[in-house]
Amino acid sequence: MDQATIDQLRAELAEHSMFELLGGADGLRRVVDDFYDLMDTDPLFAPIRTMHDSDLTAIKDGLFAYLAGWLGAPPQYAQRPGARCIGAAHAPFMIDERARDLWVECMHRSMVAGGLADRYREALMPALAQMADALRNV
Ligand code: HEM
Repeated sequence: MDQATIDQLRAELAEHSMFELLGGADGLRRVVDDFYDLMDTDPLFAPIRTMHDSDLTAIKDGLFAYLAGWLGAPPQYAQRPGARCIGAAHAPFMIDERARDLWVECMHRSMVAGGLADRYREALMPALAQMADALRNV
């Protein structure tokens, strides 16, 4: 990211949360739906798609709720019935480096395909990659 773009992003974030910059609930919904729709349809992501339930509706809601709070909207993930910490939610799955990298690549590609502004994607992806690495358990 060049300095002018960093300055632009800083100015935007001084006025708005990242949740708002992504377009609020509708914008984040699109990001989450695009992510799981790509995971569902591109054979590259089959190794991680098979780890998920055949019906992606619940996890779309879960990732939306989690990311909304993470991006600056009022927290809602922890308020959901039966909510677990994000680490516990992933403990039953073997998340190795390959699974982590596929998850991150799927998020990157879906953001590009969905037309998310480069500066938002470039700001978000390193933090998401860090979180995905923290969920690695193998
Ligand atoms: C930034 C990183 C990540 C975030 C924010 C995230 C978020 C979430 C959330 C909110 C849920 C729902 C948990 C619940 O039931 O309460 C979930 C489930 C799950 N995640 Fe992640 N996740 C991340 C990385 C990964 C990675 C790297 C993998 C590896 C493939 C992965 C695989 C799964 C699986 C298999 C489930 C359960 C899906 C199901 O039951 O259908 N996640 N994730």
